[in-house]
Amino acid sequence: MKRRILVTAALPYANGPIHIGHMLEYAQTDIWARFQRARGHEVVFAWADDAHGTPIMLNAEKRGMTPEALIEHYGAEHRRDFTDFGISYDNFSSTHAESNRALVEEVWQELVDRGSVVTRTIEQLYDTEKGMFLPDRFIRGTCPKCGAEDQYGDSCEVCSATYEPTDLVDPRSVVSGSVPVMKKTEHFFVSLKPFQEGLEEWLRGGALQTEVANKLAEWFDEGLRDWDVTRDAPYFGFRIPGTKDKFFYVWLDAPIGYLASFKEVCDQRGLDFDAWVRPGSDAEMHHFIGKDIIYFHCLFWPAMLEGAGFKRPTRVQAHGFLTVNGTKMSKSRGTFIMARTWLDHLPPDYLRYYFAAKLGAGLADIDLNFDDFTSRVNSDLVGKLVNIASRAAGFIHKFGDGRLAAELPDEALYASFVEQHEAIAADFETCSYSSAIRRIMTLADRANQYVDEHKPWQMAKEPGREADVVAVCTQALNLFRVLMIWLQPVIPEISKRAGEFLNCELDDWQRIEHPLLNHAINKFSPLARRVEAKQVEALMEDARESLAPTASAQAKAPALDLAPEISIDDFLKVDLRVARITEAGHVEGADKLLRLVLDIGGETRQVFAGIRSAYDPKDLEGRLTVMVANLKPRKMRFGLSEGMVLAAAGDEGGPYLLSPDSDAKPGMRIK
Ligand code: 2FM
Ligand code: ZN
Repeated sequence: MKRRILVTAALPYANGPIHIGHMLEYAQTDIWARFQRARGHEVVFAWADDAHGTPIMLNAEKRGMTPEALIEHYGAEHRRDFTDFGISYDNFSSTHAESNRALVEEVWQELVDRGSVVTRTIEQLYDTEKGMFLPDRFIRGTCPKCGAEDQYGDSCEVCSATYEPTDLVDPRSVVSGSVPVMKKTEHFFVSLKPFQEGLEEWLRGGALQTEVANKLAEWFDEGLRDWDVTRDAPYFGFRIPGTKDKFFYVWLDAPIGYLASFKEVCDQRGLDFDAWVRPGSDAEMHHFIGKDIIYFHCLFWPAMLEGAGFKRPTRVQAHGFLTVNGTKMSKSRGTFIMARTWLDHLPPDYLRYYFAAKLGAGLADIDLNFDDFTSRVNSDLVGKLVNIASRAAGFIHKFGDGRLAAELPDEALYASFVEQHEAIAADFETCSYSSAIRRIMTLADRANQYVDEHKPWQMAKEPGREADVVAVCTQALNLFRVLMIWLQPVIPEISKRAGEFLNCELDDWQRIEHPLLNHAINKFSPLARRVEAKQVEALMEDARESLAPTASAQAKAPALDLAPEISIDDFLKVDLRVARITEAGHVEGADKLLRLVLDIGGETRQVFAGIRSAYDPKDLEGRLTVMVANLKPRKMRFGLSEGMVLAAAGDEGGPYLLSPDSDAKPGMRIK
């Protein structure tokens, strides 16, 4: 039976770049979507940027741009990252889109009509200087439990206590630094109690992982509180109809963004939206999320759906967090890696493969350990998988004129692979990817063993055995093909190249039943290369550099991203000098850096500068520039960096090294 499946991943905030922690989820989602398509089902993978809320509003303000311009900038950047990571989404919209506004208003009206919305006056902390109510995260103060200073308004990072922002000792607004006051305001709430019965029924229906279902049961025991869905102006979001200055809380319109994005697809493709999303429909809706947002997806969201006359999710699949080399991603360790930085150094499929090899069906955290990563990619993908094809391809061209034999010499072996088909499919279906990968790699070992046993390279030396060689290699390539079909959802880019080599499509699982016989193949070119330790080092170095607050990183922001104001005294602390570049050269293992030796009038300094993309070292020798001469020296992998040269960079290109007029003298101070 052909299933109709709507797939979503959690919506990233349109407030910053995508990092590999996000990619864990998008890879998990994409593998599942590709798997379902390969099984012949109708899949729509629709999602969006999460565009609303206070942080986005304030960030845009800080950059001197409108929130609309900010979310547009990140929307475009996110799309590029996803495409380059092979994420096969059908639509990526924005929760600020008109399609979402229409649906949010429809859902809201339904909730109001069925009496699920109540009004209540609450008291909240208010920043009188800025003229806005403060979300918990925008209030800091001293923890009421342990006395730690500068803690968030909702929880203490030192003693883990949770509390109300009003409990903080000496509270301050993060926005203006002023002391907030209590102020009354009227808010709309969605009452959840009436939905409890429906939620319990849903919970028993197999939509959730056991751990998640248990968590939900606990929340029921604690009693469901009404949900505050109102935010007062100023706020970047959708205005609540009938009010002047009240907006929907970002978490109300965000999940509705799943449906709005899907509706856009329906409109483009002529699909019947209602036939997919209304109760009684056999179409499915699967949400992939991180374990930190279970509450929103397993309580609020299904309640809203029920209240507004939609089907509840078929499945909510939660995953754990990503750690790198055993700990939380860290900027200073070079493990806070942006998706783009990864793509600058390593193929996306390697990360997708590694995630798949580690992802089970549960909520366990996943560790990206770079030693383990390197050895798995090298031994599994390169050493086992690609090796099968590279050992067999040449002989087919040499002795078979590029054509596979008309029969398999060992049909039983082929059948023993096909026998695993449903077990592997079941692993993908249940998101037990690590189990699928284990089965597939065990079979890859078996395929290599077959080649080892038959030694085509030896047979090739014996006259008259050409047909035997072609037969053995036909067998090997057919086993390889089966493995690549199963792995297509995981490593689509490598699989695409394998398909070009085998001269056949690898994205249809049905085709496994029939081996590829009497079939012309193409020339083989390497499908995957070994990961070298120096690539990983360069990646981490780059991750560190791309986050270091250098003059050029500052200029990389989409618009004027002004740093906080400083006094003239602050400025005078920076010792800027005219410098002559006396030597310039490449740095081995750092694609972005040049090593410069600078003369600042009798003293020389070595500086590593991220300007390699724009300059040929030999053009720089002799040139004047400007450097920060009193910057604390920084120890880098390649040596000590004793200062920083000034360069401008932005979306429009660069970096552009600054130069004084040619008669300036090295050592002159700039003031
Ligand atoms: O936690 C987050 O990053 C949210 N932006 C996820 C939203 S998912 C959905 F509900 F829209
Ligand atoms: Zn505390």
